[in-house]
Amino acid sequence: MSGHEFTSYFPESGSVDMTDTSTNIDETTLTELRELAGRYPQARSALMPMLHLVQSVDGRISPAGIKACAEILDITAAQVSGVATFYTMYRRTPAGQHHIGVCTTALCAVMGGDMLLEKVSEKLGIEPDQTTPDGKFSLERIECNAACDFAPVLMVNWEFMDNMTPEKAEQLLDDLAADREVSSTRGATITSWREAERVLAGFPDGRADEGPSAGEASLLGKKIADDKGWAAPKGGLN
Ligand code: FES
Repeated sequence: MSGHEFTSYFPESGSVDMTDTSTNIDETTLTELRELAGRYPQARSALMPMLHLVQSVDGRISPAGIKACAEILDITAAQVSGVATFYTMYRRTPAGQHHIGVCTTALCAVMGGDMLLEKVSEKLGIEPDQTTPDGKFSLERIECNAACDFAPVLMVNWEFMDNMTPEKAEQLLDDLAADREVSSTRGATITSWREAERVLAGFPDGRADEGPSAGEASLLGKKIADDKGWAAPKGGLN
């Protein structure tokens, strides 16, 4: 047991909100957190998936989630919080039912990413890092998602929406707001941010193989090389 409570001396710096003590963590969650810890030779290696599981039940990194991880892994709450506040995929404030990410890194920016973010922000009535009052959407400006060949890219619950335009984004948000069935442009059915977090924690939902594994734009270079009979040079670096 850690036996220590965590107090931040820099509450405005993006720490976990320790004043919101609400939680949905129950015995089932604790059993699943212990299961994750048991999957690794060093239990503390499970901390990151465990934090994703905390998010899947609490919608954010909650004080109760930090305490549970610390106790199960026999580390301090400060160590858990240090990891939770280092990575941007761990949220200090509640995510919406659907978490929208808009990439504005170089290639997406060149292809209209900033315009897309502005449009989405205007449509939802929130700025990046905010959640709509009804809890339906949260918005984030994201860094390159390694999908530059489909720029500009928007993510819904970490599923890709490729080659987006402001018009397509508007339709997408209308569909999600009305709970109409929506699929990623790569095939996967959109569920919810919390369900996606559960998958990231290591509890598959059986949808991993929905859609193609690689899109046409990603495979174009290989196709051109195949057509021209090009191959990588043989041998190592020396
Ligand atoms: S720059 Fe947006 S996915 Fe790479």
